[in-house]
Amino acid sequence: MGRLDGKAAIVTGAGQGIGRGIALVLAREGARVAVVDINPDTAASTVKEIEARGGRAAAIRCDVGVRAQADAAISAAAQAFGTIDILVNDAQRIIGEINVEDMTDDVIQQSLQSGFMGTFYFMQGCFPYLRANGGKIVNVGSAAGTEGMARWGAYAATKEAIRAITRVAAKEWGKYGINVNAICPASMTPAIEIWMKTNPDVFKASLAHMPLGRYGDPENDIAPVVLALVSSDFNYVTGQTIMVDGGAAILR
Ligand SMILES: NC(=O)c1ccc[n+]([C@@H]2O[C@H](COP(=O)([O-])OP(=O)(O)OC[C@H]3O[C@@H](n4cnc5c(N)ncnc54)[C@H](O)[C@@H]3O)[C@@H](O)[C@H]2O)c1
Repeated sequence: MGRLDGKAAIVTGAGQGIGRGIALVLAREGARVAVVDINPDTAASTVKEIEARGGRAAAIRCDVGVRAQADAAISAAAQAFGTIDILVNDAQRIIGEINVEDMTDDVIQQSLQSGFMGTFYFMQGCFPYLRANGGKIVNVGSAAGTEGMARWGAYAATKEAIRAITRVAAKEWGKYGINVNAICPASMTPAIEIWMKTNPDVFKASLAHMPLGRYGDPENDIAPVVLALVSSDFNYVTGQTIMVDGGAAILR
């Protein structure tokens, strides 16, 4: 018996990194998972991994920041699984290392479109399905936003907008039995590996600010928190942000 038997989930950005870890764990617990990613190859490989472990999943290629593609992905998932009970908005175009004075409209737009607008499109598009049975949404913020990380202005602002709509939707949709929460993770992923190689000193300093002394593993450290949030264990928690960061937030 899995904790999510009979449930259907959408996980965006599930081709790699944290989204992949979340998709694997939700599937392990019995959910059928729509693996949504802009990269069809990595989406297909996550689905293969899920199926190899005996789970059920469907790969859906989608740029979450394009409304028509988001709507089509939601329809495809609902058609494949008959319902949508769980939505995890993980996808984000990660663009940083730019000072505020050098930021362009294009950088801000790309960050907002993939992060905030993508999250919004999926929340709005999944709402009718989630309302039917009392669903769960987990959005992904960042300590870059909660702390205001220098040189990451567009990304930080995007992530704080995501946390804001998380709280607003929690208030508006509580009456339908929909829980809306956010996590701010710190996790070793392909994105962080690139950042670590290009900014070794900043990376070392970030480790010094982690009481647990390491970046989390997507599947073993980050996904279990998402699993708790989307399972009935956390039915009475909504509008919250959980820092899944090895304790980094308390040392800053
Ligand atoms: N890794 C960390 O420590 C960390 C820290 C704070 C926040 N986050 C957030 O966690 C999430 C996952 O981060 P990650 O480190 O796994 O990143 P990653 O870059 O390794 O993976 C992101 C995935 O999202 C997909 N994606 C990007 N833009 C997309 C779009 N427009 N439409 C559909 N898919 C798209 C990518 O193809 C990729 O598969 C992001 O929201 C990120 O901002 C990560």
